[in-house]
Amino acid sequence: MIDRFDQAMCAMQSAVFGHDIYGPDHPQVDDQVARAFELLAGMLTERSSLAFVALDDRVVFDDQRLPSGPSLNDGFVARLRDHDIEGVTFTKGLTEDELTRWLDCWNQDADQVPKHMNTAHIRTERIDDDGEGDFKVDPLRTAASSQEAAAMANRVLHGNDGGLPDLTLVCDLVEHLSANVTQAAGALLPLATLRQHDEYTSVHTINVAMMATALAEQVGLNSDQVHSIAVGAVLHDLGKREVAARILNKPGKLTDAEFNAIEQHPADGARALMQIKDMPPIAVVIAYEHHMHLDGTGYPHAHDRRPHLSSQIVQLADVYDALRTHRPYRQALSLAKATEILRSGAGTKYDAALLDLFFDRVAVNAQHHDAQAA
Ligand SMILES: [Fe+2]
Ligand SMILES: [Fe+2]
Repeated sequence: MIDRFDQAMCAMQSAVFGHDIYGPDHPQVDDQVARAFELLAGMLTERSSLAFVALDDRVVFDDQRLPSGPSLNDGFVARLRDHDIEGVTFTKGLTEDELTRWLDCWNQDADQVPKHMNTAHIRTERIDDDGEGDFKVDPLRTAASSQEAAAMANRVLHGNDGGLPDLTLVCDLVEHLSANVTQAAGALLPLATLRQHDEYTSVHTINVAMMATALAEQVGLNSDQVHSIAVGAVLHDLGKREVAARILNKPGKLTDAEFNAIEQHPADGARALMQIKDMPPIAVVIAYEHHMHLDGTGYPHAHDRRPHLSSQIVQLADVYDALRTHRPYRQALSLAKATEILRSGAGTKYDAALLDLFFDRVAVNAQHHDAQAA
């Protein structure tokens, strides 16, 4: 991939300098923009974002120096530096028109270009001024990446006119999230700090899916299993569409009838998922079992069997995120309090070893980001 990115950077450089020499509409410029776009778009089918940073005399992509760094450093990257830009992230969805317009900017005088020349799928950033080398430009930490995930989750949950979710969209979201989990161990978890939301929202969905994916990876499951768990995590509360918002958001104690209505959501969700072609069977199991506990408490009644490991994984992520979120009937709980509540169920409601793994490897990242956000 680094060679293809290097070629894309060289094509962008040729386009910018070709523009200087020949003017904007010369075929030579168009060809180079088209080539750069083809390379970037090709790589963006394999991952959700591509980023480079300019550090002193190096141009770095994926922690490696670009082979053409010295030439870029005197050319295209120097031009970006003139505009105070030291890093750029390209994200999935980039269009050729967008790239053309963005490249056109670098032929204008610095004072005519906005300080951070961003488009929907191109984000330009400066490196932190503190000299710590902690890049704001890290693609996994950009707001663009979080916003993209939130928009994707929104389309999954609410996009199909109240019909069943589109599995292709779910898989796109899972791919986007899992790339981030794998590459940066929970770097998208800052979303977990947005505490004000209903349970059936994009933020809760993303948080649960990211934490469940991270935990499934820590358990050592293979990539197909992790994928199925992530799909199940995204769709775990689908059955809540059937429950009136008045009940879901009721501040006071629920009546028996209201509680019964809520207890239907796992079965309703599982039934809906079964109607979706190619739905991984485990995702259906997760929807059905995510409120079942190991000791037979929870709902629906387990009839003497343990919930599947995949359901247990999603359950920990779900309970943790719910506890850390403002609810109509209580404030968001602190990390310490949420930990205490979950830990008090170790060996009864929840598997003790799974809880250890969750707090040692997954929730530590959430905690880290809480500290950053505070
Ligand atoms: Fe649920
Ligand atoms: Fe949930």
